[in-house]
Amino acid sequence: MKKIVVLTGAGISAESGISTFRDSNGLWKKYRFEELASPGAWARNPELVLEFYNMRRKQLFEVKPNAAHYALVELESKYDVQIITQNVDDLHERAGSKNVLHLHGELKKVRSTVDSGLVYELDHWELKLGDKCEKGSQLRPHIVWFGEAVPMIGSAAEIASTADIVIVIGTSMVVYPAAGLIGYAKSDIPKYYVDPKASHFGGVSNLTVIEKKAGSGVPELVRQLLEG
Ligand code: APR
Repeated sequence: MKKIVVLTGAGISAESGISTFRDSNGLWKKYRFEELASPGAWARNPELVLEFYNMRRKQLFEVKPNAAHYALVELESKYDVQIITQNVDDLHERAGSKNVLHLHGELKKVRSTVDSGLVYELDHWELKLGDKCEKGSQLRPHIVWFGEAVPMIGSAAEIASTADIVIVIGTSMVVYPAAGLIGYAKSDIPKYYVDPKASHFGGVSNLTVIEKKAGSGVPELVRQLLEG
């Protein structure tokens, strides 16, 4: 089976109703990420940080995967599909994708602040001050904050280097090291980029740009790859 590596960003979840970060109505247009998504923010105002992620986690219970998420599942009938997502939502998993690597963490998980190996699933939306791990320390969102290391980047680079086809969906490609993953893919393999503003994505060999929203562009691309 040929291997397809799919790199997704906030744009694939936009049509599910989850805000992106840098579009005109994006999260970082409404909030200052330095006050919400960084170790400094957590040290200064943990309640505000908890509230920010509680709001986003609560929304997860109100949204569902869209046609783009489901189309990627269909690809699994003919290809070995590995998704590498920058997203912290669980829409890929809820659509049925089997191999999902979260580069920036997961909203539905929380972890100890004294032992990062202690990670817990949250089955409800609210994490509060005073919610502690088994070692008695405050639990924090299992999210990679600005300025923190990206533990999964080595595995992701390894996966990208073994791709026979790469599909990039709905990411502005401005946050490293995630944005650098495309550079690990072999230069001679076909690469596709699905994004309504894809014109800002250049300098990559064998690239086909699909300037459409994920909800229409991804199912069309999947049909083409399944028929090919
Ligand atoms: N379909 C496809 N792409 C879309 C859609 C859509 N319906 N709507 C918007 N987009 C595109 C935008 O054109 C943009 O290129 O999705 C991209 C969203 O870019 P960002 O908001 O920067 O999101 P992302 O690239 O995922 O951000 C990367 O930055 O803030 C950090 O950790 C956060 O994981 C995030 C990282």
